[in-house]
Amino acid sequence: MISVVYPGSFDPVTLGHLDIIARSSRVFDKVIVCVLNNAAKKTPLFSRDERVNMLKDVVRDFDNVVVKQYNGLLVDFAKENNVKVIVRGLREVTDFDIELQMAQGNHKVSPEVDTIFMATDPKYSFISSTMVREFASYGKSVKGFVPDIILPYIDEKVEKNTGGRKNG
Ligand code: PNS
Repeated sequence: MISVVYPGSFDPVTLGHLDIIARSSRVFDKVIVCVLNNAAKKTPLFSRDERVNMLKDVVRDFDNVVVKQYNGLLVDFAKENNVKVIVRGLREVTDFDIELQMAQGNHKVSPEVDTIFMATDPKYSFISSTMVREFASYGKSVKGFVPDIILPYIDEKVEKNTGGRKNG
């Protein structure tokens, strides 16, 4: 039985994330999607609880996928949950430097934990949560970037932050 953790900041979850979750759920017995803080991303649009709720909606039809959150190091989460494999998606070569560094750093501090990379489906390669936040904050529709089920969450957040400007 192989359990994996698919970690990220998921601010918000995108179609690219969902694709990696779906494919991981076919390859592995159990997938734990874990929402963590990324120290480089100082001001998230959604709170960690909100990100967890959106993800729970998005993965509710997958029997072997659960969503958790953790305030701390990914490798500590892995240890506490008895998981030895981290899954990360790779979109472009620009992802590679930081991902390799992260995988090697995590392996150095926790040699029992390995990271495997899944190639992003090219049709989602251009999508990032940062891009979604930016388009949404200027009132553009992010349909086709994120699962439809979370569009209302984004609309609501943008409306709250802009005092009524609609996503669309
Ligand atoms: O979706 P992201 O922002 O690319 O995910 C990055 C994330 C959250 C997986 C990474 O920042 C992380 O593991 N954060 C938890 C803290 C940690 O373990 N840091 C050491 C490795 S960089």
